Amino acid sequence: MIELNSVKGLKGEMTVPGDKSISHRGIMLGSIANGVTKINNFLEGADCLATIDCFKKMGIEIHREKSQVLVHGKGPKGLSSPKGILEVGNSGTTARLMAGLLAGQAFESTISGDESLNSRPMGRIIEPLKLMNAHISSVLGNHCAPLKLAPSNLRGIHFTSPVASAQVKSCILLAGLYAKGETSVTEPFLSRNHTELMLKEFGAKLRTTWKKTSASKSSNTFGVEDTRNRGSNPPTAILTPGEMLHGQEINVPGDISSAAFFIAAGLIVPGSEILIKNVGVNPTRSGIIQVCKMMGGKLSLENERIQCGEPVADILVKTSTLKGVTIEGEIIPTLIDEIPMIAVMAAMAEGETIIKDAAELKVKETDRIQAVAHNLKNMGADIIPTDDGMIIRGGKPLYGTSIQTYFDHRIAMAFSVAALVASESTKILDSHCVDVSYPKFFETLELLVS
Ligand code: S3P
Repeated sequence: MIELNSVKGLKGEMTVPGDKSISHRGIMLGSIANGVTKINNFLEGADCLATIDCFKKMGIEIHREKSQVLVHGKGPKGLSSPKGILEVGNSGTTARLMAGLLAGQAFESTISGDESLNSRPMGRIIEPLKLMNAHISSVLGNHCAPLKLAPSNLRGIHFTSPVASAQVKSCILLAGLYAKGETSVTEPFLSRNHTELMLKEFGAKLRTTWKKTSASKSSNTFGVEDTRNRGSNPPTAILTPGEMLHGQEINVPGDISSAAFFIAAGLIVPGSEILIKNVGVNPTRSGIIQVCKMMGGKLSLENERIQCGEPVADILVKTSTLKGVTIEGEIIPTLIDEIPMIAVMAAMAEGETIIKDAAELKVKETDRIQAVAHNLKNMGADIIPTDDGMIIRGGKPLYGTSIQTYFDHRIAMAFSVAALVASESTKILDSHCVDVSYPKFFETLELLVS
């Protein structure tokens, strides 16, 4: 438990730890590539450390010194049969992406995690993997982990996913590396595309098929694929297997999902000005930036550049008067992990904020619609949870209370930011759950208090 009080202002320059999604993918692709992959600014959070442990269990030599990691890849057939269960802890990304890779291996394996992970839906990857001929089953027959995998001859499929999920898409594409024939995944809206970008960097033959339209408006000034306004041209990623992957040097940008807490804090805490350096601003992840701007936030991107195929920038935020907005449709996958934080900002904004099309929140580390509504209501906000989002009427003062984190890192951090503008002190229960993605979150916050 940690106790937090309101502060007078947050000031200074900071960086956030490396991107969680990119860190996971670096270990996975590095392990099945030929040669050494060097990962700089790897996220030393529990989720990504679980990925390292799993691949070490499959015979991959991985050396980590703080945030620098060397992965000695053994090529596509270099993984060996693990002794015992592959434990992924709280990490949905490890479980789902690794299941895709394991479906193509010549050995049996079992994936399991903590209580939360083992109750998250896995039918969404079991079904398409079975269509590929994979031998995969839910051990308890409840469409959840533990998952058991056995060797099989995979065939490529053209899969239309009912959900915009990067974990589902990536799982299928990674299995596609081991399949006979082409594999493609079409999504209703484009989810984060780190797997596609990294597969290309490693030498895989992968193409994507959505058109840019003149109507497309994006924060993307880099020539990276745009994600919006594709109309009847839904996003599809197509992988042709057979190319050898080659070890790379990966400079992982700061995680925008971690930066989001400081972006929000900088906007809502009076007297604040924060420069967050080296943040990944891939347009499939940066919906939070658009939303902050729509809400009237004083936020600018500086020093924009491309690093290992990924757009990166420094983000400057200043205290702002915010107004309510409607957030729905294809922007949702680009900010899905930031919704708990956006909900807190909405409670501090003038007017109504409506969040729709975000039913996926119910199957994250916890049911985030319920978790956000419960805690914001307890702090005095006017919030109505809905089936696929929430409605928040902002402007009511927040009061400190005990925050039920449900062991969900993003709930803990979003409500730590709420605590900075609440009267009376706020207790964040089980606050150590931030270790999943941001072990030094509270220390960093303290350094900014002026
Ligand atoms: C992730 C994808 C998202 C996100 C998660 C990380 C990834 O999940 O919420 O934190 O690295 O692919 P879904 O793909 O299930 O939306």
